[in-house]
Amino acid sequence: MQGFLHCTLASLLLYVVWTHPQGGKQEDHQHHLHHEMHEPHPVHGKGEDTCHKLAPHNANFAFVLYKKIAAKAEVESKNVFFSPLGIATALSLLAVGSKGDTHKELYQALGYSQLNTSQVNEAYEHLMHMLGHSQGELKLDKGSAVVLQDGFKPLQKFLDDAKHYYQAQGLTVDFKKPEEAVQAINKFIAEKTDNKIPDLLSSVQSDTLMVLLNYIYFRGKWEKPFEEENTVKADFKVDENTTVSVDMMKRTGWHSYYYDHENHTSVLMLPYKGNASMMILLPCEGKMKDLEAILSKEYIAHWHKNLYRTVVHLEMPKFSVSGSYSLKEFLTEMGVVATFSDAADLSGISEDVGLKVSKVSHKAVLSVDEKGTEAAAATAVEMIPMSLPDMVSLNRPFLLLILESSTRSILFMGKIVNPTAQ
Ligand SMILES: *[C@@H]1O[C@H](CO)[C@@H](O)[C@H](O)[C@H]1NC(C)=O
Ligand SMILES: *[C@@H]1O[C@H](CO)[C@@H](O)[C@H](O)[C@H]1NC(C)=O
Ligand SMILES: *[C@@H]1O[C@H](CO)[C@@H](O)[C@H](O)[C@H]1NC(C)=O
Ligand SMILES: *[C@@H]1O[C@H](CO)[C@@H](O)[C@H](O)[C@H]1NC(C)=O
Repeated sequence: MQGFLHCTLASLLLYVVWTHPQGGKQEDHQHHLHHEMHEPHPVHGKGEDTCHKLAPHNANFAFVLYKKIAAKAEVESKNVFFSPLGIATALSLLAVGSKGDTHKELYQALGYSQLNTSQVNEAYEHLMHMLGHSQGELKLDKGSAVVLQDGFKPLQKFLDDAKHYYQAQGLTVDFKKPEEAVQAINKFIAEKTDNKIPDLLSSVQSDTLMVLLNYIYFRGKWEKPFEEENTVKADFKVDENTTVSVDMMKRTGWHSYYYDHENHTSVLMLPYKGNASMMILLPCEGKMKDLEAILSKEYIAHWHKNLYRTVVHLEMPKFSVSGSYSLKEFLTEMGVVATFSDAADLSGISEDVGLKVSKVSHKAVLSVDEKGTEAAAATAVEMIPMSLPDMVSLNRPFLLLILESSTRSILFMGKIVNPTAQ
C-alpha cells in the first residue's frame, strides 16, 4: 500500500452460489430468457429520496453487524474493519434474484421490510450514481460484478436488473479450473481498482456456478493533512498489559469536536476532500465495551449534532488495517437462513437450477497516513487562538466510521485495537 494518498480503502464482498446437492447440470438451451421490456427509467428525485430513505436502515444494519463482528474479534483482540455499505449492496443485489422467504429474510436483515423491491433497487441505482462520481480529489470507485460459470445462463432479467440498478458487470469464467478462475476474477478487480486490490481471491470451489462481487475503492485526501515532520514514535496502549510503538502523527487546528462526558466518548471529525469524513470515537480508558454497547445511529446522530468547532491537538497513529470476514454465521444470526439452505429460492437468478449461497466473504483494507504522493500540496495556514487546545490522543483503542455525506452512507467502519497488527 505505498505511493498513494492519505487514506486508501478497498472493500469487497462475494457470494459463492452453488447448486443444490441434488441439482443436476443445467440445460443451457432450455432456458427461456426473457427480456424485461418495461425497464423503469431512473427517476431522479424519487431515487434521491429513496436513497436517503435507505440510510437509517443501512446504518442500523451496520451497527448490528459491527457488534457481531466485534464480539468475535474481541476474543482475539483483533482490529475490525469492514464496509457496511458494500455488504448491504451485495445482499440487495442477491435479493434481486431471490423470492419467497429467501427474499423476505434478506430484506428483514437489511431493515427494508417496509420497502418494495422497486424502491430498494431505485435507491441503489441512485446511490451508485452518486458514489460513482469520482470527483476532484476524492476517488471512490464502486461496483458489482456477476461472475458466471461458462455456459451457465441465468435469467436475462436478473442480469438486466443487476446492471441497471447495481451497475453490475457480467463476467464468465470456468470455475472447474479454479486457479484460472481466480486469476480472471482478480484481474478484473485489479483493473477496476487501479491495481489497488490485486489479489482478492485466493481460491474458489470448482462446483461454483456464480459469484457476486462488490467492491469499493476509496482514496481520500485529508482536507487538512498532517505535517510529516511532526510525526514521532509514541506508545499506543493496546490493553493493560500491552504497549506498542507507533508513528504518531500530530496536528493542532480547528476540528469539529465533542466530548460526551456522560457517555465517556470523545468524538472528532476528520474530513476528506470531497464529501467523505472520518468520524473518530475515542472512549475513555477502559470504556471501549461501554461505547460498543451503546453504538447506534441515535448516538451517532446525537454526537454529530453536538459537534462544535474548536481547536484540537490531535495525535493519531499511522496505520493500515484490513479485515477479512466470512459473514455466513453473522448473517444467519441476523435471520438470513433460507439463502444458505437447500430451501433457498433464487429462482430470480435461474429457474431451472437449484441454487443456494455457500459462502459470503468480505474484505476491506484501510491505510491512514499524513498525506501522499502530492505531499507538496499547500497546507492552509490556520489562525489558532492562544488558548489551550483540547487534546485528542488516539493512543489507545478507538473506533472509526467513514461517512459519505451526499448519500448519508457509512462506507466503512472499524475498531483499531492495535495499529501495528495487520
Ligand atoms: C412500491 O412502492 C411505491 C411507494 O409506496 C409505489 O408507488 C410503487 O407502486 C410500489 N411498486 C411496486 C412494484 O409495488
Ligand atoms: C493482563 O495481565 C493480567 C495478569 O497476568 C491478566 O489477569 C489480565 O487478564 C491481562 N489482561 C489482558 C487484557 O490481557
Ligand atoms: C449520552 O447519550 C445519550 C443518548 O444519546 C444522550 O441523551 C445524552 O445527552 C448523552 N450525554 C451527553 C453529555 O451528551
Ligand atoms: C457532494 O455532494 C453534493 C450533493 O450533496 C454534490 O452536489 C457534490 O457534487 C458532491 N461533491 C463531490 C466532490 O463529490
